[in-house]
Amino acid sequence: AIKLVTTAAELKAESARLLTQKQGVSQGLVPTMGALHEGHARLARTAVEQNDVVVASIFVNPLQFGDAVDLDRYPRTLEADLALLEEQGVDLAFAPSVEEVYPGGEPLVRVTAGPLGEKWEGAARPGHFDGALTVVAKLLHYGIPGAGLPATGAFVSGSGGGLPAYRAYFGQKDAQQLALVRRMAADLNFPVEIVAVPTVRSDEGLALSSRNRFLSEEQREAALVLSRALRLLEERANAHEPLDLESAQALVASQPLVETDYFDVVDPFTLEPLAENCRETPFRGEGLAIIAARVGPVRLIDNVPLSS
Ligand code: PAJ
Repeated sequence: AIKLVTTAAELKAESARLLTQKQGVSQGLVPTMGALHEGHARLARTAVEQNDVVVASIFVNPLQFGDAVDLDRYPRTLEADLALLEEQGVDLAFAPSVEEVYPGGEPLVRVTAGPLGEKWEGAARPGHFDGALTVVAKLLHYGIPGAGLPATGAFVSGSGGGLPAYRAYFGQKDAQQLALVRRMAADLNFPVEIVAVPTVRSDEGLALSSRNRFLSEEQREAALVLSRALRLLEERANAHEPLDLESAQALVASQPLVETDYFDVVDPFTLEPLAENCRETPFRGEGLAIIAARVGPVRLIDNVPLSS
């Protein structure tokens, strides 16, 4: 059964106990804000497949919300979340309070996302990625495996006495967040492997999101145009055809309930727009089509990797 812990001290003790008990050589961390759906489940399942011990964190991080209203209305469904995580085989759920994570209030020193955090989603939500990276840095530290093990080198089993492997799981759905977490881990030498998990969609193609529940039936229907337009680009890339981004943009614009914020084709790592000639000649190489749009009360984001 899954065990719920709410403090860093408990997490450290429990994960060490589990590593020892299972003679484990690896630990996975799945950071979430709760309100879990099949997308999160996929992250958790992947982590369970790849690691001996898996921790999922559930924490609605005030630092990454622009306005208090959005923070307040963020869904909180702890009981259902625990059931979903248990079903995937997650060992530990770490659901700390705001006071546990930010004792004494907001931290004075934070991670800055830099220029990569200022474009696209960062432009629409100033400070969002600084807040997200600051909590991800903390969560990655909380989840370091073996921190609670005796300092005797007693941790051995199959690992030849080395430290347990450490992996953290992030969804491709939030492509800019993923790119930034990768850069933070690389630029600041975090001792963790960042694993990307493909976007999980509804049968109709809508990328699953905790915010989809705020869409009316009509808005939900309208929102399908995002994934349709992305799929169009994916098909053209696969067929080595020109992407013709303009026609995909026109498709989205034809849906009156959808107000596009951005829709572009970018480099998957720098998120810089690809040069015009990459779009007008048959597509070659690696790209990422990214879209953000407002549909009724909700801002939706989606993306699809392009490879040809
Ligand atoms: P949250 O929105 O709860 O998402 C948690 C993780 O689930 C993220 O890595 C996100 O990319 C992934 N995810 C969400 N929807 C998905 C889908 N449809 N398919 C695949 N993966 C999906 O992202 C956050 O929380 C926070 O910013 C966090 C990283 C926890 C820091 O607070």
